Amino acid sequence: MERPFPTVAVVGLGTMGAGVAVAVARSGRRVIGIEANEDSAARALARIEEATAHAVARERLTAGERTALLAQITVGHALEAAAGADLVIEEVPEQLELKREIFAELDRICPAATVLATGTTALSVTRIAAATARPERVLGLHFFNPVHTMKLVEVVRTVLTTPQVAEEAAAFARDLGKEPVAAGDRAGFVVNGLLFAYLNQAAAMYESRYATREDIDAAMRLGCGLPMGPLALLDLIGIDTARTVLEAMYEQSRDRLHAPAPILGQLVSAGLLGRKSGRGFYTYEAPGSSRAVDAATGPARPGTAGREVRSIGVCGSGTMATGIVEVFAKAGYQVLLAARSLEKAEKAKAQLAKSLDRSVSRGRLAAEQRDAALALVTPVGQYAELAGVDLVVEAVAEDLEVKRELFATLDKIVKPGAVLATTTSSLPVISCASATSRPQDVIGMHFFNPAPAMKLVEVVSTVLTAPDVTATVLELCAKVRKHPVECGDRAGFIVNALLFPYLNDAVRMLQEHYATVDDIDTAMKLGCGYPMGPFELLDVVGLDVSLTIEKVLHQEFREPGLAAAPLLEHLVAAGCLGRKTGRGFRDHARR
Ligand SMILES: NC(=O)c1ccc[n+]([C@@H]2O[C@H](COP(=O)([O-])OP(=O)(O)OC[C@H]3O[C@@H](n4cnc5c(N)ncnc54)[C@H](O)[C@@H]3O)[C@@H](O)[C@H]2O)c1
Repeated sequence: MERPFPTVAVVGLGTMGAGVAVAVARSGRRVIGIEANEDSAARALARIEEATAHAVARERLTAGERTALLAQITVGHALEAAAGADLVIEEVPEQLELKREIFAELDRICPAATVLATGTTALSVTRIAAATARPERVLGLHFFNPVHTMKLVEVVRTVLTTPQVAEEAAAFARDLGKEPVAAGDRAGFVVNGLLFAYLNQAAAMYESRYATREDIDAAMRLGCGLPMGPLALLDLIGIDTARTVLEAMYEQSRDRLHAPAPILGQLVSAGLLGRKSGRGFYTYEAPGSSRAVDAATGPARPGTAGREVRSIGVCGSGTMATGIVEVFAKAGYQVLLAARSLEKAEKAKAQLAKSLDRSVSRGRLAAEQRDAALALVTPVGQYAELAGVDLVVEAVAEDLEVKRELFATLDKIVKPGAVLATTTSSLPVISCASATSRPQDVIGMHFFNPAPAMKLVEVVSTVLTAPDVTATVLELCAKVRKHPVECGDRAGFIVNALLFPYLNDAVRMLQEHYATVDDIDTAMKLGCGYPMGPFELLDVVGLDVSLTIEKVLHQEFREPGLAAAPLLEHLVAAGCLGRKTGRGFRDHARR
């Protein structure tokens, strides 16, 4: 294909338009910039000059390249100038009537062959296209802010857009050095469709006081490796913008999970729009600043003193148990590793030795530290030997009956006053507690896999957990250099309750043939900076494990939108469980 669209008009040179104009000029194309009036045109040109000067200062552009680039751009305020363009990209404010008016005018002004693209985030591309007599040559080109760093472009086709126009637009995006993904005309497209539903749930979680804003944000950063927590991200995006996108999504889906959380409306009414107004979920140094001045730094400090912990028992011999033993032993605690038989316990210790050896060979641990940690771990084949420990962490099979039986046993054995913790990820902690005669001493300590590497621990207090037990676990987390977040005993805690509905939404998107596995994964990685796309993550976690968590969440909240996507059930039924079986959403065997 020839280089598509040698001359491009950009209408509206604000945040997005100015960025797009520069990106297009950088690709060697001629850019016709069009603003609303003479004043705004002058301001837009100044903005472009300033942005490119900044790029030169940052060494992203040479002075020569900047001069050449600026020579490619003209800025005026007559829409008629768009007549000379092969492609027009509209980037005016997010108002349907304004966009429709501009498209009607452009349709009159531009030759029949000109392709018209809108930069809308949440409006219907179809409705904008309907303002023209050439809807087959109208599409959405959704760039991300800031345009110069964000590689993703969503190429949005309506039912009327011809495939060839979409292909040309994708080729054009690639030519700008961007990665295009194909999307249909649905509010939010791929990225925002998945992102905003999740942000909305995080806002609702905060509003219900299930956890603090700092804990919600830390949980998603540390538990999922996301670049930002959801509430900090809402502040960055702008609470008003987020609310508009969610309104548009709800309008189309009628899914209650898209109905903007009431807190968003309250913040907007109060003028607390996020960073841009200096306050949203957090308060910032000044409007536009990224420095939150009222965020609690570091993990929560308990008001009550905790109990003394010198020795720890860990029950189980699997991945989590072994990882948790490693965490405690490396921090200098005496650990009894208790399994159903001495043989199993010894095998688990051998696994631990291997893991420590790996750390030594990678230079992350000194040989003496490895030896010291190993010397602190004693494998035992009977739970009776845990009688004298100060704290027990249970990491046996994720089966309520098995766990309840273990807690009943521990209740009979372990000394009074010891803390009994479960690392369950989907079972109610209170059901473990009620198997004992001391529910006040029982708490959840949800580690993430691999425990030695993942910094997060969700500290789950039940309605009966004693405050000094919570304090004990928070203090212990600090001593073993984990970041604890506090939450209540409900399905999914913080991380899984926010993560799995998002993964389920991605499966639903796929099931509805809205976008492909690769496009959705690429979109979330490039559009949100996620370390993995949803399907990569599902294949790693395991489709069966994911389905179980989704069922638990649906059972707990009875929200129709949380029902597991049938496609996930079908894949599990077919034995496609992800990497562990060689096939899940992707075929790993053939790779
Ligand atoms: N800001 C983001 O993060 C972001 C990201 C992706 C997409 N978008 C979408 O991009 C579009 C532009 O958003 P923005 O953030 O750049 O807005 P903005 O307010 O920064 O810029 C809009 C520009 O359009 C100009 N304008 C207004 N009326 C005009 C007219 N009749 N003719 C020509 N120019 C006119 C304004 O003077 C202003 O410079 C919106 O549809 C928005 O939803 C924004």
